[in-house]
Amino acid sequence: MHIQAAKRWDIGAIAALEALCLPSDPWSAEALADYAASPDSIVLLATLGDRAVGYVLGRTLAPEAELYRIATHPDHRREGIGGMLLAAFLGKCRRAGCHSVFLEVRASNGAARALYASLGFEEVGLRRGYYSAPKEDAIVMQLADKEVAPC
Ligand SMILES: CC(C)(COP(=O)(O)OP(=O)(O)OC[C@H]1O[C@@H](n2cnc3c(N)ncnc32)[C@H](O)[C@@H]1OP(=O)(O)O)[C@@H](O)C(=O)NCCC(=O)NCCS
Repeated sequence: MHIQAAKRWDIGAIAALEALCLPSDPWSAEALADYAASPDSIVLLATLGDRAVGYVLGRTLAPEAELYRIATHPDHRREGIGGMLLAAFLGKCRRAGCHSVFLEVRASNGAARALYASLGFEEVGLRRGYYSAPKEDAIVMQLADKEVAPC
């Protein structure tokens, strides 16, 4: 498995994974391309051979960062890909001077909540009715990286 910064020509594969893995509100290829063009964005793609099997995307605004999307192809779940993508994302955040990473996750998304908790994220808030289709609360999670934090 290989993880690297997504290139312009990877956007189509990421859009296909979005549609497959997050079908309730997938980002379009155009939205992903706009997003990836921002210098603050981190977009990482995981590949097995020439097959795209996962991605993560977020944004740094030092000293904080936000994770927006992470997904693994359904054929390759529980193989450690999500954990490796998240660890790679966190490494990039640290190198960009971020010592705190925030994210929102659907309350019912047990797999994602367990993934985030496995890397040290803690639940720090609740946004009632944050998501639509279906309407659902968001759990706000934070990873405060004490090793990098200035105080
Ligand atoms: C959440 C998601 C990215 C996890 O990806 P993954 O590649 O299967 O995750 P990993 O194999 O690296 O799992 C790492 C750890 O996360 C936890 N975890 C992952 N999936 C889990 C599940 N279904 N149930 C319980 N714990 C789970 C476990 O602690 C796991 O470690 P373990 O396998 O040693 O027990 C994947 O389920 C997915 O793509 N879901 C759909 C998209 C989504 O909901 N994204 C999040 C919102 S943007």
